Amino acid sequence: MTDSKSTPLTSRRSGPLQGRIRVPGDKSISHRALILSAMTVGESTVSGLLEGADVIHTADAMRALGAQVERTGEGLWRIHGVGVGGFAQPGSPLDFGNSGTGCRLVLGAVAGCPIAATFDGDASLRKRPMRRVLDPLEKMGARATDAADGGRLPLTLQGAADPMPITYESPVPSAQLKSAVLLAGLAAAGETTVIEAEATRDHTERMLKHFGAKVVSKSYGDHGRRITLQGQPELSAASVVVPADPSSAAFPLVGALITPGSDLILEAVMTNPLRTGLFKTLLEMGANIETVATRDDGGEEVADLRVRASVLRGVEVPPERAPSMIDEYLILAVAAAFAEGTTRMRGLKELRVKESDRLEATADMLRVNGVAVEIDGDDLIVHGKGRPAGGGLVATHMDHRIAMSALMMGLASDNPVGIDDSAFIATSFPGFTEMMRGLGADLV
Ligand code: S3P
Repeated sequence: MTDSKSTPLTSRRSGPLQGRIRVPGDKSISHRALILSAMTVGESTVSGLLEGADVIHTADAMRALGAQVERTGEGLWRIHGVGVGGFAQPGSPLDFGNSGTGCRLVLGAVAGCPIAATFDGDASLRKRPMRRVLDPLEKMGARATDAADGGRLPLTLQGAADPMPITYESPVPSAQLKSAVLLAGLAAAGETTVIEAEATRDHTERMLKHFGAKVVSKSYGDHGRRITLQGQPELSAASVVVPADPSSAAFPLVGALITPGSDLILEAVMTNPLRTGLFKTLLEMGANIETVATRDDGGEEVADLRVRASVLRGVEVPPERAPSMIDEYLILAVAAAFAEGTTRMRGLKELRVKESDRLEATADMLRVNGVAVEIDGDDLIVHGKGRPAGGGLVATHMDHRIAMSALMMGLASDNPVGIDDSAFIATSFPGFTEMMRGLGADLV
């Protein structure tokens, strides 16, 4: 359903996508750069920060907690932090908008301070589970009060005056949960350990080291990690360079693969192996993606990628790959709809608790555009037939990635694809519509 405040958008069959672009900074690294700078005494700087709504909410939260946070130019930010355990009690609720990452990481950061803070967000964030983060934080001595049903937002967290270090075996593969525990562990005396059965993105660990904390990460079982942080470190102010977000690059990348004649260069895309499951899967599907240059950019490997329109075939995506592409299944499902044959994506349980229930939403997005799709337990099965009919209006459910995925679909399907609301794209990819139009996308 559209309403008077929503901004619908339609994508139509387009000519080749061509050009050279750099998508905005990585969302995960941007949140962490602000939070860790705010927990460090002295002046830190960040360049290439993603200035999307999600990250701006985190910047506002850091200010409300007592850090000085200033924008000094495009993507350039200067932060005077207050030190580990040094946050001040905010005078009003912290609003995280649509952002699960901002909210969960700041819950961890506040849990190690002797203050109370109220956390809130929009209708989508209010539906998302917070208990998974509150459980370990309560073991460390924090206390959640006034939470809505099932530990949801809005809730108030009373941080611990003297947080206890814990060893926590994470019941879900979640980098947000891992990060919340590690950020709380900064203020605890002794070692805080998180054990994850499946390795999730490691940006928190990398950035903690960059700011001077002692973190040791070892492999655990077949796919997991055991991460130990030494509490109460002397963090030193640092400068952080934010690389381009592979999860944002995914949209023009798949747009180019499915739109005949396309030839596109994506510059400086972060290729941290815990984020590149989509690229690996697309290569298995026959995608023409060439790495033209690699380099190190602020502690992360980045690459320029050349992408050309390709004939794709269906594949099976194993469940253990999910953490390295958890945000990319929607756009992979679009690629699968343009492939020949069946793509089975296994083990997608976590998709149900994202900005929307992405398992159902992905199936709906494809169905209204004439694609045969099934959900089998936690698996998504897409029957690709080369080119979908399109012609559907996709409900975006306040979810930026549904909006962008559906728009990519319309570039190459027989009929235009509409979305009910494009407003949430700005949470992670400000300038998306203009950038895509600049490459040749017909978005109206
Ligand atoms: C993120 C972790 C993932 C991902 C989200 C960003 C992070 O969530 O979906 O977009 O920055 O840590 P989970 O940790 O809940 O899987």
